[in-house]
Amino acid sequence: MSVQQAGREQWGTRIGLVLAMAGNAVGLGNFLRFPVQAAQNGGGTFMIPYFISFILLGIPLMWIEWGVGRLGGRHGHSTVPGMFDVLTDRKKKWAKYFGILGVVMPLIVFIYYTYVASWMLGFSFFSLTGRYFGLGDDVAARAEGVRSFLVNYQNIHDSTGTGGFVPVLFFAATMIFLGWILARGIRGGIEKLALYGVPMLFLFAIVLLVRIMTLPEAAATPAEGLDFIWNPEWSSLGNARVWVAAAGQIFFTLSVGMGSIQTYASYLRRKDDVTLTGLSTAATNEFAEVVLGGTIAIPAAVVFFGVTGAMAIARNGSFDLGIVAMGTVIGEIAGSQLWGFLWFFLLFIAGITSCVALASPTMAFLQEEVGLTRKRAAQAVTALGIGLGMFHVVFYRWGVLDEWDYWAGTFGLVVFAAIEIFLFAWIFGIDRGWDELHQGADLRMPGFYKPVMKWVTPVFLAVLLVWWGWTEARPKLMMEGVPEENVPYLLVARLIMTLMLLVGVVFIRRSWQRRAAAAAAGKPGA
Ligand code: ALA
Repeated sequence: MSVQQAGREQWGTRIGLVLAMAGNAVGLGNFLRFPVQAAQNGGGTFMIPYFISFILLGIPLMWIEWGVGRLGGRHGHSTVPGMFDVLTDRKKKWAKYFGILGVVMPLIVFIYYTYVASWMLGFSFFSLTGRYFGLGDDVAARAEGVRSFLVNYQNIHDSTGTGGFVPVLFFAATMIFLGWILARGIRGGIEKLALYGVPMLFLFAIVLLVRIMTLPEAAATPAEGLDFIWNPEWSSLGNARVWVAAAGQIFFTLSVGMGSIQTYASYLRRKDDVTLTGLSTAATNEFAEVVLGGTIAIPAAVVFFGVTGAMAIARNGSFDLGIVAMGTVIGEIAGSQLWGFLWFFLLFIAGITSCVALASPTMAFLQEEVGLTRKRAAQAVTALGIGLGMFHVVFYRWGVLDEWDYWAGTFGLVVFAAIEIFLFAWIFGIDRGWDELHQGADLRMPGFYKPVMKWVTPVFLAVLLVWWGWTEARPKLMMEGVPEENVPYLLVARLIMTLMLLVGVVFIRRSWQRRAAAAAAGKPGA
């Protein structure tokens, strides 16, 4: 096996690494997805399956991904195919092909997630111009006004709102900005973005939280809002759907099962700590999610729409809560322009610091396995992002974005994590794995995590896969309940995902053949 290669990129500072990893984890999921999941799935009771999933799925997988990433980096790999190959001591040829999931899935998530992040940039702009405020005579009418504005914005075929080119413009601008950051590399681009962006997003969130918590009583008080989101509903504990929702949220929020933690960790040095640093970033994410994410959007909605109104909004999903409800609430308070900008720009920063992480596996893959320079790789990612992204921009209303999100951003994460933990705990071996994670460690992991990694997490994942696969993925695959007019678009979306996987497999094959030929010729770096 090769040793750590000279000239590999590395993180500049530990604080930069922690902030970049926190930026990876803290995203739209914390501020939009989490409050809706909690409100829909039993309120305070949701936190029980949520924290059990955090301890038994989130933390072990997070540690494993940090360790696997650092190990891969030591052997010259910044993407999962090479890391899986290393985990099998390069003896199982199939492993690297499964690793392509850890490149293609984050790429797909990157493309649709960037589109959603670009809406936040758009709404930051329209907050400053006051475009969506005051579109009705009373709060209910104004909320309808914000909803129509959002629907028009999302539907580029509708020329009555902002016009089709506006969302395309914000999307392309966001992609180009991200491409520019990626071209500057780990230390000069991603780390700098995190050093400025992450503290700014925490500051904005804390200022907003204070504003929301000091709102005067309207339909309800902010305290009633907190009571609504955290009020336990014990009967929900027996509901398997609630457990699946909690596990799904843990995956999404910590960005485990995605491939991005591994790529970031591959830029660590051999003896850099992963246990304490990994735990610190996971804890930072939980603070952003439970404390900040749980205290802004839902309580704000309760204050203006009352508990029943907020419940209806939460049932309609994350965008209704984050954009329609928050947009309306902000329109009701003094200084709407400023508060609107603060909220949507906070979401934009949270989004883009996750976007660069999601794009990193593809960046590394294009450089290591395809042979592009960093600049060319960034140009390719930007072009691919805009090109493929146009598919869900144009066909948004036929459910294309949700289709990407389900397979690559929800169910796929569990499939990928199951393969990963099997390779780590069973093929590489839990004893070797345990030692590997403790190299240079600033924190000894509690001993019970060893059997957890070997038995509990894999069993938890297997149960999730079977249950979720049967109750949700199977009907989804068969397109049960999908309107007929959506079917062709969803089939094309699936075809694109399959083709991306196949192209990835071809590149891996060629790259490994080249490596083998170079090794046979005795060339260095093989
Ligand atoms: N972890 C990121 C989020 O929560 C993807 O949005």
